[in-house]
Amino acid sequence: MKVLICGGAETAAGRAADLVAARLRRAPATTLGLATGGTMEAVYAALIARHRAGDCGFAAARSFNLDEYVGLAPDHPCSYWRYMREHLFGHVDFAPDRTHLPQGDAPDPQAEADRYEAAIRAAGDIGLQLLGIGANGHIGFNEPTSSLASLTRVKTLARATRAANARFFSGSEDVPRLAITMGIATILRAEEVVLLAVGEAKAEAVARMIEGPVSAFCPASALQTHRRVTVILDDAAAGQLALRDYYEDIHPGGM
Ligand code: PGA
Repeated sequence: MKVLICGGAETAAGRAADLVAARLRRAPATTLGLATGGTMEAVYAALIARHRAGDCGFAAARSFNLDEYVGLAPDHPCSYWRYMREHLFGHVDFAPDRTHLPQGDAPDPQAEADRYEAAIRAAGDIGLQLLGIGANGHIGFNEPTSSLASLTRVKTLARATRAANARFFSGSEDVPRLAITMGIATILRAEEVVLLAVGEAKAEAVARMIEGPVSAFCPASALQTHRRVTVILDDAAAGQLALRDYYEDIHPGGM
């Protein structure tokens, strides 16, 4: 794993956006794996700025998001479809028919998950996968004890995840219990992974992901088995790393 410790949260988000923009310049027809959540908002804002400055374009790219809540239609205000339109798709030149999320209100959610997995494979898998991490070590909605061999499927959200995401709803009780999420094996098929974590609340999960054992108890630790992972952190999220000096020695200032 390449571990980049970038100082502030905004610098870290900018660094993640730089890696995405560089990939789009190198391979305009790349397939991006996209994430949602609070952390990604700054990444998308930085990407929109880079797009407006003429640094990168999305017209030839394609995207697949990690997950969607079961039961939420694409136009539901709390759906990830809506999040993506608001934070990225509505502001850049992605062709609408080249952006994909699982359909949360599909009548048969597991059939929808299978269809989504097949669509990712048919697209030749993900080129660059953007990830956040949950305080419990989840990636996508692969909660602790998810199979490291899992494919896209319906998962029950952990109570901690529903509590963490309650800020996007009227309250914890309104957060759906189920989600369709890419599996850990789906994510590991990506050619390149960029994971961003900021804030002290993520520090323990980050240390377990990078320095702990590979274990389904911390799903993000599965990334240790991937050849090309860049973990981008701010100072606070790097706070519990035992080998911090080493990472900073290799990549001073996260460069
Ligand atoms: P957050 O979510 O960016 O809202 O903290 C990250 C995640 O749960 O993967």
